[in-house]
Amino acid sequence: MDELLFINACVRGERSRSLKLARHFLARWQALHPQATVVQRDLCTDRLPPQYPEVLEERDALWNAGQLDHPMFDPAHQFANAGKLVIAAPFWDLSFPAILKIYLERISVTDITFGYDEQGNNVGLCRADKLLLITTRGGDFSRPETAWMEMGARQLEALCAMYGIDQFHCLAAEGLDDVRNDKDALMAQAMVRAEALAEVF
Ligand SMILES: Cc1cc2nc3c(=O)[nH]c(=O)nc-3n(C[C@H](O)[C@H](O)[C@H](O)COP(=O)(O)O)c2cc1C
Repeated sequence: MDELLFINACVRGERSRSLKLARHFLARWQALHPQATVVQRDLCTDRLPPQYPEVLEERDALWNAGQLDHPMFDPAHQFANAGKLVIAAPFWDLSFPAILKIYLERISVTDITFGYDEQGNNVGLCRADKLLLITTRGGDFSRPETAWMEMGARQLEALCAMYGIDQFHCLAAEGLDDVRNDKDALMAQAMVRAEALAEVF
């Protein structure tokens, strides 16, 4: 049975509302797919280094030598081979925490997660048909006057096109830090949407 890769970028750990929402989704999804394996990659535990010059140099040298089986590329192979992908990350500075960007740079490896055909066109190489971003936001970025400022979900959606992942979904609880809002009610509504999404994911 297939593997669902859960990429956890929730920096606040057990206090994270995004993680609570993700766990609710995953529990429902696992109940519906008892044979499937859910594998977690916790980016706070991983602590992958950013692509400083020496990291990039090592990566380029390995890639040029054709050593795509080197451990440096393990995260990329894991991402490329997963049947389903779920990312949980809070909304930070209009996108997501840097640990997720570092991870995305690590998995974006030519000939593993994406490549090019003879005409030079991008070809996605990932197996997964769906990627879900689960996030919570302090403000409300679902309204037309603010949606254009949202750059986390949009970046992931574009990367899905590059990786060959057909469907991008985003489950977001919005406005959780707005004092005018009932944040418990907003989270409860998001939990219901998580359950509905688990049915079709
Ligand atoms: C470093 C940092 C940056 C944030 N940036 C934004 C932001 O740009 N816009 C926004 O609406 N909320 C922002 N927030 C609020 C979070 O999106 C909100 O509290 C969210 O629910 C946190 O998710 P978590 O509970 O999973 O950590 C920020 C919070 C932190 C800690």
